[in-house]
Amino acid sequence: MHIQRVERLNENLLVTFSDNQTGEFSLFWLRDHSTDATSLNTSTLQRDVETFALPDCPEVANVNIGDNGATLELHWQDDSISSVFAADFLYRMAFNAVAPPAYELWASDLQDQIANFDFNDVTESSAGFLPVLDAIEKHGLVTFSGMPNDMQATKKLLEQVGYIRETVFGGLWDFSNNEAHSDSAYTSVGIGLHTDGTYTIDPPGLQLLHCIAFNGEGGFNQFADGFKVAQTIKDEDPEAYQLLTQIQVPAHYLEPGIQLRAEHCVVTENSQGQFKQICFNNYDRSPFMLAPAQQRAFYKAYGRFQQLINDPAFQVNFQLQPGRAVWFDNWRVMHARTAFSGFRHLAGGYTNREDFISKILTLREQTPWQQ
Ligand SMILES: [Fe+2]
Repeated sequence: MHIQRVERLNENLLVTFSDNQTGEFSLFWLRDHSTDATSLNTSTLQRDVETFALPDCPEVANVNIGDNGATLELHWQDDSISSVFAADFLYRMAFNAVAPPAYELWASDLQDQIANFDFNDVTESSAGFLPVLDAIEKHGLVTFSGMPNDMQATKKLLEQVGYIRETVFGGLWDFSNNEAHSDSAYTSVGIGLHTDGTYTIDPPGLQLLHCIAFNGEGGFNQFADGFKVAQTIKDEDPEAYQLLTQIQVPAHYLEPGIQLRAEHCVVTENSQGQFKQICFNNYDRSPFMLAPAQQRAFYKAYGRFQQLINDPAFQVNFQLQPGRAVWFDNWRVMHARTAFSGFRHLAGGYTNREDFISKILTLREQTPWQQ
């Protein structure tokens, strides 16, 4: 992208780009975003300029288009500072507010296309791990084969993303049907589709399940794309969708000495109107009451969500065997497990959502200024 022309309009600069689109930048915003060494720490990209000590309209002495249109160069009058902005950066700030979503919606058609990775291949180097993160960003679900049948492998995989999140269930889990906690995960009963941690203020980001041992029948893992279900409801019943994005549903987790409570909308969008997070667990929902008409409408919308995630047309499923693992985005992908007989030993853990994002941005070498 290149800059063709710059004009002053009151307290703003109008920048015309090579595609003839014009972006409007206030002088205050431009001074606030200066990347000169006194305004921005060049290694941490933390802002050093005292934003609110700036005049309402910082004055520029000179405005130049530099490097054949690749940059906009401003020389500020008050503090003799020069700011150089890349045309690409200004264009992205002005027009890329709605970037295409990084995710692709899926339904049962993903069954034969779930990305699978060999444990040894992806843990050899950080760069070799990026395709795993790319696939999680795209579909929210990947599997692994060639996993050693020990928890060191579980730990090694989790730590490729970041530190393992501590919860009331511990950090690195080691669970079998031994009823060690007050949660159905520690039994052999079937568990319907849900996201984990609806009772936590910051629900876990990624969840890894690694099969260490299984000697029995059943225990199929089922998954559904919560974003796909949300999109389906948005298309068929916008009012129901609105309720799912507006009504905070409370949830709880209780065991002796522990009482966790939080509330979340079923669907949260980001500032660009894209899907950001799904929180749905009818088992852990706390009592709450709405006005009668809204309550009926909410139950209908919530029930439709429950109905769609339980429709096989929206699901993929497989039976984890020893040496296999599945890693999924708990902010997006609903998971379930059918009942099983015999003995099943899984290990796993959570990593935070921001650590997943941090790792993917780091491996892609993206910064807030350059991405
Ligand atoms: Fe779960």
